[in-house]
Amino acid sequence: MLVAPVALAACDGSQNVLNPQGPTAEALAQLSWVLFIGAAVIFVVVMAMLAFAIVRREGRPSALTGNSLVIGGGLVFPIVTLTALLVYGFLIDVGRSGPAAQDPLRIEVVGYMWWWEVHYPGSEREGFVTANELHIPTGRTVEISVTSADVIHSFWVPTLAGKIDMIPGHVNTIRLRADKPGVVRGQCAEYCGAQHALMAFHVVVETPEQYREWVERQRAPADEPPIPFLAKGREAFLEAGCGACHAVRGTPANGQLGPDLTHVGSRLSIAAGTLDNHVGTLAGWIADAQEIKPDNRMPSFDVFDGETLRAISAYLESLK
Ligand code: CUA
Repeated sequence: MLVAPVALAACDGSQNVLNPQGPTAEALAQLSWVLFIGAAVIFVVVMAMLAFAIVRREGRPSALTGNSLVIGGGLVFPIVTLTALLVYGFLIDVGRSGPAAQDPLRIEVVGYMWWWEVHYPGSEREGFVTANELHIPTGRTVEISVTSADVIHSFWVPTLAGKIDMIPGHVNTIRLRADKPGVVRGQCAEYCGAQHALMAFHVVVETPEQYREWVERQRAPADEPPIPFLAKGREAFLEAGCGACHAVRGTPANGQLGPDLTHVGSRLSIAAGTLDNHVGTLAGWIADAQEIKPDNRMPSFDVFDGETLRAISAYLESLK
């Protein structure tokens, strides 16, 4: 009981299978409860029989001896129970990817060691790329196609749906729907190397109107820096060669190896859910990415003086 409050302190529910936020996750949560409660009942019955066997007086015949118990409890009961569970599980699994919807929102997610590239497909003016964060509207079926650029990852948003593997050279699709606005967390669910644990993302569920506004904002190129300090940040960002790996639409930076930073300041986290996103963590990440997340593809840029580092970080934070 002393330990329980510590464990429960982490239960904000944003990454909890038992806190479903949509129909697919609800079916999975229900399956979990059936298994938990069923297993608990069977455990209690078996323990009761064990206790009975221990305290029973020797020599007295009992209903619990003989072949009928072995055949009934050891053969018939498991076969019937497990078959029923198998059928029930299959039925949920068939419905897991959800019914095909008329006009699903399509999103493509590519797994990298150790971050997520998120494509909202469309024509050159309509489509855009972001990273480590999905925005989806409430009440609309979302069809998420996933693949990987390197090793096998697994896309998992426990409050919205089951897991789906991200396999190099292959596209898997999962459908889900969120019913309530809010922010939930997703996590890579397939061991993919040293920083597998730091491969997370957020799903921001918004009202359809908020979602439309977000899309409009994401489609636009990066704003011109409104003050000289931010302009200096952009200049230093470009001079240091950050654009070889990162794109900022509207500037010469058009690298494709790392996350697109056009609107990086609008995201909740950096480094795939590793750090909250603000000017301090951005500076820490730029200067010491290899200490924070060893072996990730971002080198530690410990070459900047303090003011330059602050300017670059402030510029990135301003990219809302
Ligand atoms: Cu990606 Cu584990």
